[in-house]
Amino acid sequence: MKKDTIIIGDALTVLRTLPDNSVDVGVTSPPYNKGERDKGWLVDKVIYDIASDRKDEVEYQEEQINVLNELYRIIKPGGSFFYNHKLRWNRGWLIHPYHWVSKTKWVIRQEIIWQRKIAGNIRGWRFWQVDERVFWLCKPRKGEENEPIGEELKPRHAKLTSIWQIRPEDKINWVPDPFPLALPARCIYSVMDERKGCVIDPYAGSGTTLVAAKLLGHEFLGIEISEEYTKKALERLLNAEREKKRLLEELKLHQVELTFQERKQRGIAKPRKTIKKALAPKQERMF
Ligand SMILES: C[S@@+](CC[C@H](N)C(=O)[O-])C[C@H]1O[C@@H](n2cnc3c(N)ncnc32)[C@H](O)[C@@H]1O
Repeated sequence: MKKDTIIIGDALTVLRTLPDNSVDVGVTSPPYNKGERDKGWLVDKVIYDIASDRKDEVEYQEEQINVLNELYRIIKPGGSFFYNHKLRWNRGWLIHPYHWVSKTKWVIRQEIIWQRKIAGNIRGWRFWQVDERVFWLCKPRKGEENEPIGEELKPRHAKLTSIWQIRPEDKINWVPDPFPLALPARCIYSVMDERKGCVIDPYAGSGTTLVAAKLLGHEFLGIEISEEYTKKALERLLNAEREKKRLLEELKLHQVELTFQERKQRGIAKPRKTIKKALAPKQERMF
């Protein structure tokens, strides 16, 4: 299997050619099928270089299920895939991504709220939608298919919650809706920790997931339908080191004063204030 590159082509078609159990972790944000016509007046229309963001919704969801099931085959047992999507409405009816994600082979480990802090692609019918979702999907380890609890997160990630407050990317403007680097970096680092492996993004766009993977020392593989985006993403990957500072800012959040086990042993339910108390000598803690 090719590595450290981006294959130009349709995600599903290319995924079908990749071997079973060959990748450790993946992160992606597919086209959302938001439609190019009814975008509202607050943001630009989503128009990709060549792909359409306006498909029949049933076909769209079937395609996404097929893509996710191919990824399930390709990811190693015990591996994870992070699938970013958002809630949409069609003529007033809510379309939640859980609707099709739950029809795939994956075990849904968690639905993370990505609080983007700013947004504005709906009009006055609802409160401003500032969130997106990140589904943390797991492939059970061998023998754990009926009880897919999975591996525990390493203590250093313990401060992160199920709500991720990360501002949208503001420097890359040649792909609609690129990830901020922190998002794929958080996904990859939280599950891989110091282990090294291979990371995939089947809708690679500007290559943010792949840049995060490279900076974290992993092999990577992207798939992208646009030749133009791929050319620019490969250039970006060559200069990945320039983005190291942003990666390090994210890694700073993956630190704890006490591990899960130490907190449990000291009977500390909540971090912060109580941690200070627990660390202080006994006599100082009397008041
Ligand atoms: C939301 S963007 C991904 C942005 C990416 N996360 C980043 O950080 O730049 C979706 C990408 O999927 C690509 N795309 C759309 N349809 C595709 C398909 N069938 N196969 C592969 N890529 C596709 C688009 O060209 C676009 O670059």
